[in-house]
Amino acid sequence: MDSIWTQTVTLPAFPALEGHVQADAAVIGGGITGLLTAHLLRREGVSVVLLEADRVGGGQTNRTTAKLTAQHGLKYHSLIQQVGIKTAGQYARANLEAVERLRRLVKEWNINCDFQDCTAYLYTQGPPAALVAEYNACRRLGMDVFLTKDTQLPFPAQALGLRNQALFHPLKLLAALLDGLTVFEHSRVLEVKGHTLRTEQGSVTAGTIIFACHYPFVNFPGWYFLRQHQERSYVLALEGAGAMGDCYLGLDGAGLSFRPLGDLLLLGGGGHRTGENRQGGKYAELVRAAEGFWPGCRVVSRWSAQDCMPMDGIPYIGSFSKNRPDWLVATGFQKWGMTSSVIAAEVLSNLVLGRKLSPDHAVFSPQRFHGKASVKQLAGDTIQAVRGLSRRVLAPGRIPAETLPAGHGGIVKLNGEKVGVYRTEDGTLLAVSVKCPHLGCQLEWNPDEKSWDCPCHGSRFDVYGHLLDGPAQKDGECQEEIAGCNTKKLQLPGSD
Ligand code: FES
Repeated sequence: MDSIWTQTVTLPAFPALEGHVQADAAVIGGGITGLLTAHLLRREGVSVVLLEADRVGGGQTNRTTAKLTAQHGLKYHSLIQQVGIKTAGQYARANLEAVERLRRLVKEWNINCDFQDCTAYLYTQGPPAALVAEYNACRRLGMDVFLTKDTQLPFPAQALGLRNQALFHPLKLLAALLDGLTVFEHSRVLEVKGHTLRTEQGSVTAGTIIFACHYPFVNFPGWYFLRQHQERSYVLALEGAGAMGDCYLGLDGAGLSFRPLGDLLLLGGGGHRTGENRQGGKYAELVRAAEGFWPGCRVVSRWSAQDCMPMDGIPYIGSFSKNRPDWLVATGFQKWGMTSSVIAAEVLSNLVLGRKLSPDHAVFSPQRFHGKASVKQLAGDTIQAVRGLSRRVLAPGRIPAETLPAGHGGIVKLNGEKVGVYRTEDGTLLAVSVKCPHLGCQLEWNPDEKSWDCPCHGSRFDVYGHLLDGPAQKDGECQEEIAGCNTKKLQLPGSD
């Protein structure tokens, strides 16, 4: 199902890139980061082309809940412990300023994107120790926070509030930023060499190349696939749920989040590492929770999002690598893409323009290394990658294809080969290779999205093997034939 944003705004269509184009800067990625960066550069007289693999706003910008806040979960207590108060202060100030900056830009540029002020809350129904520690950390960093038991939640809870945050419609913002930009859609960048990038039907040569595509697809240099993993989470748009004016993020259990949207309420939760949802049931859990809170409420839309989680909990924004000073990158936004994209647009545009960066933006340098903060996640990600690779080679198929019910998928062994099989509602078995085309880990079935997801770095594919999310750059392989269990020859649509 499309997100509620797509159901309410249609963005204009743009042609695919054909032939060769020259520009001062080429931006890869048509989300908020890419468009805001391109827009800021164009206003300064820089010639920019923007390339989007699918449709503008078709990636994570369309799947966000669009909460513009510097409150990033239990962030600041942990940041002070891991990277020290100076760096934590830079992170806090940069994110607080990002909220103010977008507020100013929306006003100055007269953008109608349903921008509304709110207070952002973290809440718990359990012991408040973590909330109090976060409150103390935020106060040390000069943030305007307060503790309260007075909330709009449908249950008693204690909460930590941060005033003067905001909500907006992400696609309405994109619609305004598109004005005057040179954009090419359906133009996946397949290769970047030096100052030239290549798509299927064209190429661009630019003084600066900006990777604003959620997850950088170039493995070397940069090594971003070793420096972050991806996580998924799920959202329902509800009619007939309780009225709220502010947004809430839970610290307990499924981490339920609440975000008002006109007469609707967005209920989020069910987060997990990509590739680790074999049992499914995430949407069902949210529906059960909603019905418990507001009997008779109705789901009008549901969707899921994917987030890049950097090793030390801080986005990578700046120079792609020491060896590539003319490549810039913005990634690792965690679940906080709204403030991160505003910061990224400012940093990246200033780098292109040769302007001095704010001292607070040093915290986002991709060339940093915070050993204490990074070691634990690096170890976890490495174990996950080894597991994903060895599972494909060593672990047996899990289920006989004959027993797969309609609408379900699983990993089976057929003719000595392990394949991922999905049974369509009419009984057809569709098989894909379980070898991820990125770096070869074993794909896993995600029943909630009916997709094949990679636990190593988060690439995703539909039941035909079509690429949904990177860092992989190409479709998965379709198995040619499955014999012996009511099967048919399989081909990717459009292939010979
Ligand atoms: Fe890297 Fe699958 S996404 S191996």
